[in-house]
Amino acid sequence: TLLIIDFGSQVTQLIARRVRECGVYCEIHPFTKADEAIARLKPKAVILSGSPHSVIDEGPRIDAKLFDMGVPVFGICYGEQLMCELLGGKVESGHDREFGRAEITVKGQSPIFKGLDQVETVWMSHGDRVTAIPQGFEVIATSEGAPYAAIADEKRKFYAVQFHPEVVHTKRGTDMIRNFLFEIAGFSGDWSMSAFREEMVAKIRAQVGTGKVICGLSGGVDSSVAAILIHEAIGEQLTCVFVDTGLLRKNEGEQVVSLFRNHYNIPLIHVQAQDMFLGALAGESDPEKKRKTIGKLFIDVFDKEAGKIDGAEFLAQGTLYPDVVESISPHGGPSTVIKSHHNVGGLPDYMKLKLVEPLRELFKDEVRALGRELGLDAAFVGRHPFPGPGLAIRIPGEVTPEKVKTLQDADAIYLDEIRKAGLYNDIWQAFAVLLPVKTVGVMGDARTYEDVLALRAVTSSDGMTADFYEFPWAVLGRCATRIVNEVRGVNRVVYDVTSKPPGTIEWE
Ligand code: XMP
Repeated sequence: TLLIIDFGSQVTQLIARRVRECGVYCEIHPFTKADEAIARLKPKAVILSGSPHSVIDEGPRIDAKLFDMGVPVFGICYGEQLMCELLGGKVESGHDREFGRAEITVKGQSPIFKGLDQVETVWMSHGDRVTAIPQGFEVIATSEGAPYAAIADEKRKFYAVQFHPEVVHTKRGTDMIRNFLFEIAGFSGDWSMSAFREEMVAKIRAQVGTGKVICGLSGGVDSSVAAILIHEAIGEQLTCVFVDTGLLRKNEGEQVVSLFRNHYNIPLIHVQAQDMFLGALAGESDPEKKRKTIGKLFIDVFDKEAGKIDGAEFLAQGTLYPDVVESISPHGGPSTVIKSHHNVGGLPDYMKLKLVEPLRELFKDEVRALGRELGLDAAFVGRHPFPGPGLAIRIPGEVTPEKVKTLQDADAIYLDEIRKAGLYNDIWQAFAVLLPVKTVGVMGDARTYEDVLALRAVTSSDGMTADFYEFPWAVLGRCATRIVNEVRGVNRVVYDVTSKPPGTIEWE
C-alpha cells in the first residue's frame, strides 16, 4: 500500500487517482491521523500532499519520525516545504508567487525524471518557497520562480517537488508518479479490477457468512455494480429491492429489472411506486419540499419492503471512496445546505442493519472498470450521473405524470442525438429540464402555445464545479428540431449556458 498524507489540498484525490491508474493501491489519510494510518497500513511508500496553508504560518505538521522509517517519501508542493522544514532546510514566503504553467529544467539523472525531457512543462501553485535544502539533498530541477523546483536525497529515497505532478497541466506528471512508484519505491503495479474483484468477493463472504443481505437499487451504476459483486460472492443470500419512483429516465426502470432478473438472475423485488410518488408530489412546487417528500417516501417504501425479508442482517450500499475520504480541504464539507441530497439506502437507525459497502475504496472510474469486469456493458457503466430525486427536480414547479412523460421523451431524444454525434463521453452530464413556462409558436399554419424545454450539458471532474458544454450549433439545432417535432406539448427549446458556480448543475 501507498499512503497519501493529506494536508488539505483540493487536488489530493487526484494524487490517489494517478497512483491507482498505475496499478498501485493507495489510501488518503488526513495529517491528523498520519501515525494511526502508518501503524495500520505499514505503507511501502508515502506521498505528502499540497495544502492551502503555509509552513511559515504554522501550517499542518506531522511527526518527523516518518523520515526514520526507511520508506521512500515524495513531497508535493506544501509536502516539499514541510519535508524541508522537518529535515532542517529553510522555507520563506516567496516574493513572487508562482501560479500556473512553468517550465522546469532537469539536472542530473534522477530516477524520478527517467524517460522525461530536459525541459518539462509543469503546474505551479505556491506562495512560499524553499530557500535552503536539508543536508543530503541536491537540486534535481529548477524553474525560473523556484530554484528548488525539485530536490532529492537519492540515498534515503526522499523526493520533493514544488509543482503539482498530479494535475493534467503537468504534462508528464503521471510519468513522474510512475517513476516514484516503480523505479524508486519498487511497487509492481499489479493492483487491478480483476484482483479487486477476487479480493472483495472473499471479503464479502467473510463479512456476511450465512447472513442475508438487502440491497437497494437506484437504477444507477454504483448500486448495480455493488449488487452484482455481492451476488457473485453470496448468491441467493442477496435480495435486491428496486423502488421504482417513476422518476427515472425513459425506460431505465424496465432496463434495471430486466438486467437483474434476466441477465444476472439476481432475486429482485420490483416495487412499482410510481403512483405513490406522483401522489405525494401533487400540488408541491417548492424545490426543497419536493426533495424531502421524495427522500422520506423512498425510505418508507424501502423500509416496508425490506422489512418483509425475513432475518436480513445486512444492508448493501454503493458508497464510493470520495464519500468516505475524511476530507480536510476547505471544500470538504458544505457549510450551508444548498440542496438536501438524497441517495438510495439512507435508512433510519432503528433498522440496525450492518452495512456492506464493497465499493468504499473505489473512485467512480474504478467502479466503471469493475462494472465492465463484471460483464456490464460500456454504455451502462458509462452513464452520466443521475440525482436521487430524479426527474422531479428537472421539472420546476408542480410535477405531474404528463410532465414526467414529456420530459422523458425529450430527454431521450437529446441523449440520443448526443450519442449519435459521438459527444456523450466528453460530457459529464447532459439532461433536459421542462419549464413551467408557455410561449407562442407557429407550426404549419397554426399558432401554438406550449411548454419551453431547456437543455443542459456540463463538463466537470467531480460535480463540485462545472462549465457549460460548448456544443457544435448543428447538434443543438438537430435536438431542437427533433424535440419540437416529436414531443407533443413542447414548442421551444433553449440551452443553458450557466457554469457552476454560480449556477448549480441541476435546476432545483
Ligand atoms: P448540483 O445540482 O448540486 O449537482 O450542482 C451536483 C451533482 O450532484 C447530483 N445531484 C444529486 N445526486 N442525490 C444524488 O445522488 C441528489 O439528491 C442530488 N442532487 C444533485 C447532480 O446531478 C450533479 O451530478
